[in-house]
Amino acid sequence: MSHTDSRDPSQLRSARWFQPDDLRSFGHRSRLKGMGVDDADYRDKPIIGILNTWSDLNTCHSHFPQRVEEVKRGVLQAGGYPVEIPVVSLGEMLMKPTTMLYRNLLAMETEEVLRCHPLDGAVLMGGCDKTVPALLMGAFSADIPSIFLPAGPMLKARWKDKTLGSGSDAWKYWDLRRAGELPDCDWRTIENCIARSAGTCMTMGTASTMACIAEAMGMTLPMASSIPSVVSEHSRLAVQTGRRAVEMAWEKLAPSRIITQASMINAIITQLTIGGSTNAIVHIIAMAGRAGCKVTLDDFDHWSSRVPVLADLRPAGRFLMEDFYNAGGLGALLNRLVDLIDTSCMTVSGTALGQQIASAEVIDNEVIRPRDNPLSESGGTYVLRGNLAPQGCVIKPVAAEPRLLKHRGIAQVFENYAELKAKINTPELPVTADSVIVLKSAGPLGAPGFPEWGMLPIPEKLLKAGVRDMVRISDARMSGTSYGTCVLHVSPESHVGGTLSLVQTGDEILLDVEARKIELLVSEPELERRRADWTPPEKIASRGYLAMFANHVTQAHEGCDFDFLVGRSPGSEPAIF
Ligand code: FES
Repeated sequence: MSHTDSRDPSQLRSARWFQPDDLRSFGHRSRLKGMGVDDADYRDKPIIGILNTWSDLNTCHSHFPQRVEEVKRGVLQAGGYPVEIPVVSLGEMLMKPTTMLYRNLLAMETEEVLRCHPLDGAVLMGGCDKTVPALLMGAFSADIPSIFLPAGPMLKARWKDKTLGSGSDAWKYWDLRRAGELPDCDWRTIENCIARSAGTCMTMGTASTMACIAEAMGMTLPMASSIPSVVSEHSRLAVQTGRRAVEMAWEKLAPSRIITQASMINAIITQLTIGGSTNAIVHIIAMAGRAGCKVTLDDFDHWSSRVPVLADLRPAGRFLMEDFYNAGGLGALLNRLVDLIDTSCMTVSGTALGQQIASAEVIDNEVIRPRDNPLSESGGTYVLRGNLAPQGCVIKPVAAEPRLLKHRGIAQVFENYAELKAKINTPELPVTADSVIVLKSAGPLGAPGFPEWGMLPIPEKLLKAGVRDMVRISDARMSGTSYGTCVLHVSPESHVGGTLSLVQTGDEILLDVEARKIELLVSEPELERRRADWTPPEKIASRGYLAMFANHVTQAHEGCDFDFLVGRSPGSEPAIF
């Protein structure tokens, strides 16, 4: 029991709704009774909200109906009262144009749902990419005791004698098919095999990256990020998470007691050592902003050359999340970096991170590599700057062909994705393997929503000639399961008149990853001339959520949160009259 754990029911947040002997509280209690809820069910107990991002259109969360019952079981066992609250689902596969457009919507909903209800604690059920940062951002701002339950990765998929990984192998076999090297019947069979179970993508894509980051920040129970979605351990994790939420409510263990500048740095180190998704950079900056911390691209730059990539997981490496779990999981990996991470950071367990990972052991040195035999000495993600991206852009060198990391080539520019789609495979397109493919209008405002278009397709005629990687530059993001020499998140984006908007086909571009440089080799007077000629695009929307997005979303290097949502709102408990 911690020093703040009084177990005094009158100190519970929900007591403000239910304890007073007044007309308003009478209304609260009587309406619960109308639902068949007895005093003994909830009075004097922590009320735990279970924020459930399930929907029939979220393919990664299809096991949540069972998991939510298991969380409730844990809450009841620990003497709490569970209430399920559905929130926006954000399923990556079926939601268009991109779930990133709605990350801040779920974050806002999470914050307000937590604040406006009689809740003493919360279990945040998410997993598919944006649901993780969104739930955490909302919880950090609301600052009510909260614990995250990741959906868990899918089981490994098999096709013939091959292991298939979500996303990464879809791109790989699609390119083979476009090159005429994969028969249609094989392509159809891969479709039947590649998504083997409920759960999130089982490569180290954005979902697994964000789950690992949530665990490293202390927001989950140990091992939670890698337990596969459909094994019995995952059910037991759900029950334990429910039990722990009740204890956290008594202990008043809110995010502000867990998330510090040091835990955000632990998140950065984790993203780098797992060779994680570049998307995490945007999400970490946004989460830090909600927690009152400050993380910039310079922090990634600082750590990127100091942190070895130890997780040998696709798309950068060989294995999948199920292998990572069997190899010891994130705790075992972090145990190999105790000289870099801050082990004194608090976790939802009520103990320091160091204590939480102390007994985690590496079982398989092939999957979690030793410090003296890393997958890469560095290069999880690098930040590049130059006249083409004055506010920065990112690249994942570990997932690129090394020969392209220093490259000078002629730009082939597409003004938007529709143009790219229409022209990229035309035989007359004047591209060679040394060309640099450039896409504009794919950033936070340009697309809009900052979609995952950044792994721009290789032109079909080059694919047929055996080309499998090229330098590609855009203001888009790319899926965490993608790979290649893709320069992403160029900031400022082209839609707001960044230098990217001035690039023309035929310009020369220099990429020098080692020197962290990206330059448009066009003279400054010529750029000035083009800048003067540039016409800003029309406003993307005048009504609805999209208008709010257009007016308030920040640029990639600032985390793409809404400018008015940064930070917490201390003392903003609702009045109960
Ligand atoms: Fe949901 Fe990949 S589609 S995690």
